[in-house]
Amino acid sequence: MKGVILAGGTGSRLFPITKVTNKHLLPIYNKPMIYYPIECMVKAGIDDVLLVTGGNNAGDFIRLLGNGREFGLKNLSYTYQDGAGGIAQALGLAEHFVDGDSILLILGDNILEYAIKDSVRRFRHQGQGAKILLSPVENPKAYGVAEMDGDRVVKIVEKPQDPKSNLAVIGVYFYDGRVFDIVRKLKPSARNELEITDVNNAYIEMGEMTADKVTGFWADGGENIDFYLKACNTVAQLGANKEC
Ligand code: DAU
Repeated sequence: MKGVILAGGTGSRLFPITKVTNKHLLPIYNKPMIYYPIECMVKAGIDDVLLVTGGNNAGDFIRLLGNGREFGLKNLSYTYQDGAGGIAQALGLAEHFVDGDSILLILGDNILEYAIKDSVRRFRHQGQGAKILLSPVENPKAYGVAEMDGDRVVKIVEKPQDPKSNLAVIGVYFYDGRVFDIVRKLKPSARNELEITDVNNAYIEMGEMTADKVTGFWADGGENIDFYLKACNTVAQLGANKEC
């Protein structure tokens, strides 16, 4: 399985602190934000990773992360997203790197309390299709939200006005190699992005999506400045990427 971490986008919800740097280079407690998804990959047993970045500060990632060896990666590759056309557009840039393998995709502003080894094991066992992770939140309108039928996800709605559950789809996704065929067929959403939620709904329609509930805290450090502060304080208190 290959790892893909996204660190593009504009970071506009954290302006002005992201005006002169990339959001993922900001500190979360005592480390740059981007360290957390990298450590999550390593703890998940994935050591061949592509980092997709964008904007004006791409060179800073190489200065910070180098070849990834100090984190325990065997290989850290980089690519560059022109503009910010959406999470699925950024994922599409990974096709050549992934080369038909399965993928663990992590959004660079997502932080988890616990390592996700169990989900990796379950996805390997699943063999094909996709897996998403769900976490209960107080403000579902800010996320992709899962509509459930028992334990089954029947639909995901991106930033719903009227959320049908409090289960956010977090920024950690597993896909088989067919994901790039799905990405190629996507049309831009109302916010003019290729949406990862549309990719996930395609797998749901194919009947090949599974979902796990997250243990411990999940933080989206890029949501807004209050969530950024909360992510810093929570990581300071509880740590991150801990062994279960
Ligand atoms: O954090 C989980 C949420 O992430 C999900 O619940 C939503 O379904 C999903 O759409 C996403 O929502 P956000 O609105 O929070 O996404 P955001 O624009 O903040 O981008 C998330 C990450 O993806 C961030 O680390 C930057 C990266 N990104 C984003 C865009 C739009 C890119 O690398 N390129 C892009 O073009």
